Amino acid sequence: MKRKGMSRREFMALASLATAGGYLHLQNGIARAMMGSGGMGGGGMGGGGTTIINPPPGSPFKDPAEAVKNALGVYELAVQEAQVNVNGTWATLLTYNGAFPGPTIRARRGETLRVQLKNFLPSTTEKNILGHTKNITNLHTHGLHVSPEPPADSMMIQLKPGEIYDYSYDLGHEEPGHLNFYHPHVHGVVAEQYWGGLAGPLVIEDDTTALAGYETHIMVLKDLTLSGSAPTPYTSMMDYMHGKEGNLVMVNGQVNPVLNIRPGQVQRWRIVNASNARFYKLSLEGHSLYLVGTDGGLLDKLYHISSLLLSPGERADILVKASRTAKSYRFLSLPYSRGGMSSQQQVTLLTLSCKGATVNSSLPTSVNPGAKRVVMDTSMLPRRTLTLSMMQGRGYINGISFTDMDHTYKFMSHLGGWEVWEIINQSGMDHPFHQHVNSAQILSITGGDSAYASLYTTIPAWKDVVIVPKWGKVTMLVPVMDWPGMTMFHCHIIEHEDIGMMGAWDIMGMPM
Ligand code: C2O
Ligand code: CU
Ligand code: CU
Repeated sequence: MKRKGMSRREFMALASLATAGGYLHLQNGIARAMMGSGGMGGGGMGGGGTTIINPPPGSPFKDPAEAVKNALGVYELAVQEAQVNVNGTWATLLTYNGAFPGPTIRARRGETLRVQLKNFLPSTTEKNILGHTKNITNLHTHGLHVSPEPPADSMMIQLKPGEIYDYSYDLGHEEPGHLNFYHPHVHGVVAEQYWGGLAGPLVIEDDTTALAGYETHIMVLKDLTLSGSAPTPYTSMMDYMHGKEGNLVMVNGQVNPVLNIRPGQVQRWRIVNASNARFYKLSLEGHSLYLVGTDGGLLDKLYHISSLLLSPGERADILVKASRTAKSYRFLSLPYSRGGMSSQQQVTLLTLSCKGATVNSSLPTSVNPGAKRVVMDTSMLPRRTLTLSMMQGRGYINGISFTDMDHTYKFMSHLGGWEVWEIINQSGMDHPFHQHVNSAQILSITGGDSAYASLYTTIPAWKDVVIVPKWGKVTMLVPVMDWPGMTMFHCHIIEHEDIGMMGAWDIMGMPM
């Protein structure tokens, strides 16, 4: 409660005190002090200073719209402002084809995915507070193992208002069975466009029938705060340092939608955290969750978990088996402290209404038996150390803040090899680290949530986003396969990417 009373002037006073490394320390100290004085407050606060966001059950759950190919087999995506009903308020958001979230694109391993992107945003010379020209956009297929060169997943492609680009992605080496997503990636303006609404699901279909029989839903987690009829603007460096978290926390653009399930029924939920900076710790009242897939594909079998931390950019494929007891259960995001100024919140994401005739669906005994943890001697592999830090309104990797491809921390890899990357977090805030093109297996996580660390260091998961805990570190095994070209790695608190916590990855070699 008290924290809310902290004015922008006070924030700015803090910001002006910022010196190398000390900034987040200082903020943390203050955040802790305020938590402490707040005590186990009442009215609106739960135990331990946790804010409870528990809106009443809303309208029926809806999956995102489905994208439809045109007669030429191309998905057309128009980036355009559109009026969207956000929890009862008509707001002008940035959308793909008028939809919030964007429509689901589906493809299969072995296909060529073609997307025509059209930038219908208004022409402007206006710059944002970081000095970048607004309304330039492009398309990133987050999670796909595809070429980082034009006409595929290249960040060098940039569309001014009025421009059109034909993307084409060879999915010949793609992993089946995972949920990905698409979003803009023009350095310096990503956070505003993403916050404004630009993100949509991208499914690579399963090539197994293990999960085919279950009712399946896609859930795009996205938060937003409106000022009047527009997303709140980026007005201070605090927005970038901290990362924006919205007061409306939505599943597929709906606040606390109601999803029906029958007692005993199994459903598959494919979840992507498409929020700028909000972390979710997913938990379903009265139920376990069964993890069957992660960022990079399906797991060998079910992993029984009570809750799952999902940071910006991460995905989870889970099965839920409804209780025999017909009643409503809340799907929650439990309190988690990612550091910095973020408050601890418990949020009701959706209401699972369990009713009707009991069915007795059974859980699968195996999902993708081919999924394995890689076992190899890593002692002779090339090792990279990537140190993440923040100071004076900029993000850094190995001491360099990204400004353009010539002013960034860059390294070269050789196609066909394996590498060990060690990512070190020298700040008081968690950073979800993301690398394009090749997903990795997590070898170790130091610090942070222990359930998260033990999960991802033991299951056969392929990850393209991993939480690097505050003051902690992660090591991961990265295969550098199939696709040469210039690509990126960065923090997926997407504001941190815009202020420079990004580097370039130059993959050398001949395509196979
Ligand atoms: Cu979802 Cu380079 O990002
Ligand atoms: Cu990405
Ligand atoms: Cu970050």
